[in-house]
Amino acid sequence: MSELNSIALKIISNGKGILAADESTATMSKRLEAVNVPSTPENRLSFRQTLFSSSSMSDCIGGVILYDETIKQRLLNKKNVPELITSVNSVPGIKVDTGAKILANSPNEKITEGLDGLRDRLKEYYKLGARFTKWRGVYNITKEHPSKLAIHSNAHALARYSALVQECNMVPIVEPEVLMDGNHSAQDCLIKTTEVIKRCFEELILHKIDLTGVILKPNMILAGTDSGKKIPGKEVAKLTIECLKNSVPSEVPGIAFLSGGQAEVEATENLNLINKENKTNFIMTYSYGRALQQSALKYWSKNLNDIEGTQKVFNHRAKMNTLAAKSEWSKELEN
Ligand code: G3H
Repeated sequence: MSELNSIALKIISNGKGILAADESTATMSKRLEAVNVPSTPENRLSFRQTLFSSSSMSDCIGGVILYDETIKQRLLNKKNVPELITSVNSVPGIKVDTGAKILANSPNEKITEGLDGLRDRLKEYYKLGARFTKWRGVYNITKEHPSKLAIHSNAHALARYSALVQECNMVPIVEPEVLMDGNHSAQDCLIKTTEVIKRCFEELILHKIDLTGVILKPNMILAGTDSGKKIPGKEVAKLTIECLKNSVPSEVPGIAFLSGGQAEVEATENLNLINKENKTNFIMTYSYGRALQQSALKYWSKNLNDIEGTQKVFNHRAKMNTLAAKSEWSKELEN
């Protein structure tokens, strides 16, 4: 087993999933302001530290994706955040893209940037304790989109990113996110997501990526939020597995889904159904941002000193998702 493969497996095995706490300062500020908490560096750290010191971390959260600000912040005991995460047997990771910008010659689409200077930034993140990374490409579905140009250019960037990350002995999370926004059907989502993921792996193979040391972070197959054609969870599971079976090379150890704007329990239920249906060899788990943090953030915002109460809310969500990753979740457990 290669070192990269064992890091990947440590993050996603035995029902463990990933806490995506890598919101940029701009996004985190929006989340905090929405619950009337001032977005200061201290408050951003305080909420995140509350989650990272929760008791569910060691059993449920195999890896945490951090943002540049957080990975460099010092705790009161002078330790840095990666040391805290490692001390609870979880793996620190880091978002390394610098965001999605307008794609030249296709102004309604995005290309993710961040390759310039990446090799040096990766070395710095490794020294700070990171052992895996994330890069998100984003695609929207309309009649004309995603275009061949967007599919190709984002796949190319994801492959160049992955090569640099593996060169630095870290596991790349490859995240091609086909957005839920729009009025497309689940069938459209299936076709487009399959095409996007296939193209990513073609490019990863061209760039000689060790696929055993990669985690894929895709969207589930859902109908667009404006379509009014929401499909049942069982159908989500069936289509999602069909997509991944047809697009992901068998060497890839695992898949960690993004929640993408699904409600917390919906994201848990869909993951559970996916694992019930899963006959592939891929581990299928979660890498949730909003679907792991929303309720905890809301609770915390009412009393910033209630660490224990906030952790209780977070522990519950983490446990529910870990049960779903083992297909052992049921609705009654939510109460
Ligand atoms: O890149 C997206 C995040 O890592 C996952 O966030 O679960 O809220 O979609 P989400």
